[in-house]
Amino acid sequence: MAREFTSVGVVGLGTMGAGIVEVFARNGVDVVAVEISAAALERGRVTLTGSTDRAVAKGKLAEADRDALLSRVNFQVGLDALHSVDLVIEAVPEHLDLKQRIFAELDRVCKPEAILATNTSSLSVTEISVATTRPNQVIGIHFFNPAPVMKLVEVVRTVVTSADVVADVEALCERLGKVDVTINDRAGFIANALLFGYLNHAVSMFESRYATREDIDAAMKLGCGLPMGPLALMDLIGLDTAYEILDTMYRRGGRDRRHAPVPLIKQMVTAGLLGRKSGRGFYTYERPGSPVVVPDEQTPVASESALADGARGIAKVGVVGSGTMATGIIEVFAKAGYEVVSVTRGAEKSAKVFESVKTSLNKGVVRGKLSEADRDAALGRINWSATLEHLADVDLVVEAVVEELSVKKALFASLDEICKPGVVLATTTSSLPVIDVAMATQRPADVVGLHFFNPAPIMPLIEVVQTIRTSTETAATAKAVCATLGKTGVVCGDRSGFIVNALLFPYLNDAVKMLEASYSTADDIDYAMKLGCGYPMGPFELLDVVGLDVSLAIQRELYLELREPGFAPAPLLEHLVTAGYLGRKSGRGFRDHTRR
Ligand SMILES: NC(=O)c1ccc[n+]([C@@H]2O[C@H](COP(=O)([O-])OP(=O)(O)OC[C@H]3O[C@@H](n4cnc5c(N)ncnc54)[C@H](O)[C@@H]3O)[C@@H](O)[C@H]2O)c1
Repeated sequence: MAREFTSVGVVGLGTMGAGIVEVFARNGVDVVAVEISAAALERGRVTLTGSTDRAVAKGKLAEADRDALLSRVNFQVGLDALHSVDLVIEAVPEHLDLKQRIFAELDRVCKPEAILATNTSSLSVTEISVATTRPNQVIGIHFFNPAPVMKLVEVVRTVVTSADVVADVEALCERLGKVDVTINDRAGFIANALLFGYLNHAVSMFESRYATREDIDAAMKLGCGLPMGPLALMDLIGLDTAYEILDTMYRRGGRDRRHAPVPLIKQMVTAGLLGRKSGRGFYTYERPGSPVVVPDEQTPVASESALADGARGIAKVGVVGSGTMATGIIEVFAKAGYEVVSVTRGAEKSAKVFESVKTSLNKGVVRGKLSEADRDAALGRINWSATLEHLADVDLVVEAVVEELSVKKALFASLDEICKPGVVLATTTSSLPVIDVAMATQRPADVVGLHFFNPAPIMPLIEVVQTIRTSTETAATAKAVCATLGKTGVVCGDRSGFIVNALLFPYLNDAVKMLEASYSTADDIDYAMKLGCGYPMGPFELLDVVGLDVSLAIQRELYLELREPGFAPAPLLEHLVTAGYLGRKSGRGFRDHTRR
């Protein structure tokens, strides 16, 4: 029989604590909510009532239920109020000495059978537990932000946590409507161990002006389907908390440089820019605690900016290539009203591309998204050619041929001879340096990367890659073109992986390393990222879809360019590729797809 928890205590009513109080009180559990001072207690009360009022306003909670929820919470200053609760969850700032002091005090105050839990994200639960005389009753219960929304709870057992305490807490999570994964005490557990290297890397991109905050966040939202971008997430987590988590992970997790907090984070914390809770972090908010972003000096000026930056008018577009990307790109431009010249290596290839484009447009007609007239008009705008000479009068060329530098360089040299002056020459490469391609021409200022995502007609993101020679006019033109295609163009520098792949693949690689180290299972790691961080797919699901060979190749490129030891491909990934386990396409990757 699992233990009944009729009353619980929550210590610290900040970002996490207030949400944890809500989770318990919503589920009929009485809560003693404790803060350090009357002022902090009041802030916690305001956070809780604000959140429940919003739930009422959205029709997600009845008024009577809200009142019942709030009546279950007993707000108190000081730990003494916790003398009769069955379980305490501590959610004070991420400092080991503070948490140890609080646990020693809880041990003194709480009844002997009470379970003492920490919501720490990165500190050692074991080190916290030894501050008490009952380490076997100490456990980690790691909720995710916002606690009332996110389904995942990581239950962290130490080597001394007793098995019934683990079982009781697992049953409690189920009662709260949460999904738990139970794991051992390791820095960052599952989700944060995979998340924070990515967040820190995103901050370093912003710090080095590789891309703007809006573009970094848009890239990850639109390119990977994440619920929020990394910098907005840093603001939600709180920069002070994020700093402490990174710092602890760096020290506890083998001094991986990727966890050494980027200097900007410390500077922002010192300056009081803590994120949403202080009203300003990477973004500026309406007021402290508000999720509403308001414009500030970094907010890009909308609409007129493209013309002001000297964007050129584009009417006729050449697309070179006949593969998946070229086919999708031809469709995108033709559908958006551009006159398109498709250049392939022969009539047979052109016929194949034509059929693919037609089939795809027909699907739009069947789904009612496109009229037959618009389909015919789009097809009518495409001219089919097997010679580059037909690109003499286009305004923009998009190259989407095989991913081989020599081939692309030769092509760009030819385009340089054929195309009229002022043309924007774009490459869709996903891994080669755009500057290498640009220098094959006499006009590197006009060369830019236009990195479309697959499938091009559907994916809303394009990375506009600006080399050190790309002119502002060229980049502005490329960005303006993205907008006319109904897509978001994010501008970034010419580094391996651009924004999306550089942030995505090391995270996937880390997940493989975690599996390889037998810290958790593929299923639990996938759950953790989906239910704890709102990812549309877990890392192993995504690796199987993308293809393990493709993932390995991208990870190798990143490692070779950046020489970051933490980016070295996981040996397990290499072995799976060698074994021919490439993911869905070969029937087997991390999972067996032949039996599903
Ligand atoms: N922010 C996140 O996204 C997140 C997610 C999961 C877990 N966590 C973890 O939760 C814990 C709390 O983080 P947070 O982001 O909520 O921090 P926070 O700074 O928002 O809140 C901490 C609260 O603790 C209170 N406090 C400080 N000393 C206290 C004491 N002696 N007694 C009682 N209350 C005290 C503070 O007044 C403050 O209200 C940390 O261990 C953190 O790592 C954070």
